[in-house]
Amino acid sequence: MSRSPRRIIIDTDPGQDDAIAILVAVASREVEVDAITTVAGNVPQPLVTDNALSLLALAGRQDIRVYRGCERPLLRPLYTAEYVHGPSGVDGADLPDPTVGVHSTHAVDLIVDTCLASDDGMVTLCPLGPLTNIAMAIAKEPAIVPKIAEILWMGGAFDEPGNTTEVAEFNAYVDPHAAHVVFTSGVPLTIFPLDVTHKALMFPRHVEALADHATPVADAAAGMIRFYEKYDIDKYEIEGAPMHDPCVIAYCIDPTLFSGTPHHVLVDTTHEETIGNTYIDDSAGEANATVITDVDAERFFDLVVQRIGSL
Ligand code: RIB
Ligand code: CA
Repeated sequence: MSRSPRRIIIDTDPGQDDAIAILVAVASREVEVDAITTVAGNVPQPLVTDNALSLLALAGRQDIRVYRGCERPLLRPLYTAEYVHGPSGVDGADLPDPTVGVHSTHAVDLIVDTCLASDDGMVTLCPLGPLTNIAMAIAKEPAIVPKIAEILWMGGAFDEPGNTTEVAEFNAYVDPHAAHVVFTSGVPLTIFPLDVTHKALMFPRHVEALADHATPVADAAAGMIRFYEKYDIDKYEIEGAPMHDPCVIAYCIDPTLFSGTPHHVLVDTTHEETIGNTYIDDSAGEANATVITDVDAERFFDLVVQRIGSL
């Protein structure tokens, strides 16, 4: 008997890899996307919100509502990544104009209201960008903490070098203070750092398999990946594009694709040259996160290509 779908809220800064994650999620019966909340990150607001709306129009899922979130990190100025994603944030595809607009409720209030209306341990939050909205929700209403089953976050880097500075991954670098709030909140947390997402490299054969579906969604996805991969291929001299954010959604669909270990994780919020560095110190306290380090890449890409091809 199939399990009931895992209900999730995707918090996102689209971003081509966020876009792939969203498409996989809406194509998969194992998850039910209750809402999409947007956060400034790869590109500023309102672009991340516009991109989320357009992606749902592309997928034919404008029944899923989009809620605009924070415009900037908690303390630091906003740092964006047009150098990776292009000025639109989703360069490589010509996405349709949405016919449904952003919901009038702020993303932080949507997260708080959804949690307070739920039984304990029933809400799964899937942040795919800086943790600003999540931290703001926890700060605004600490009573949401027991309502959250798990936070599944793409971010951080541990044994892997950073992709924004030598030591910091982008989502942690943009809002390290928000990461600190989440790491110290007591919410069950599973982290998908560069240590695992750099093993989820989408090679040309995967992109061709996606494009072979020859549907508007597959064409848009292949176009976004072909744009997005340029930065990492040049930076790391590899031939594949890291599918960072889709790892979170794939875990919701099939956790057996991944493996990791519980650790006590921290983030540097004070030293300018290492700010955003996430690190493990198991002598500093009980485990506060499961750090995912391995993925079955071929099964992962079979899932990504098949699900997007089904839209
Ligand atoms: O470091 C990769 C992460 O930063 C991904 O979530 C990407 O979309 C950007 O937000
Ligand atoms: Ca992202």
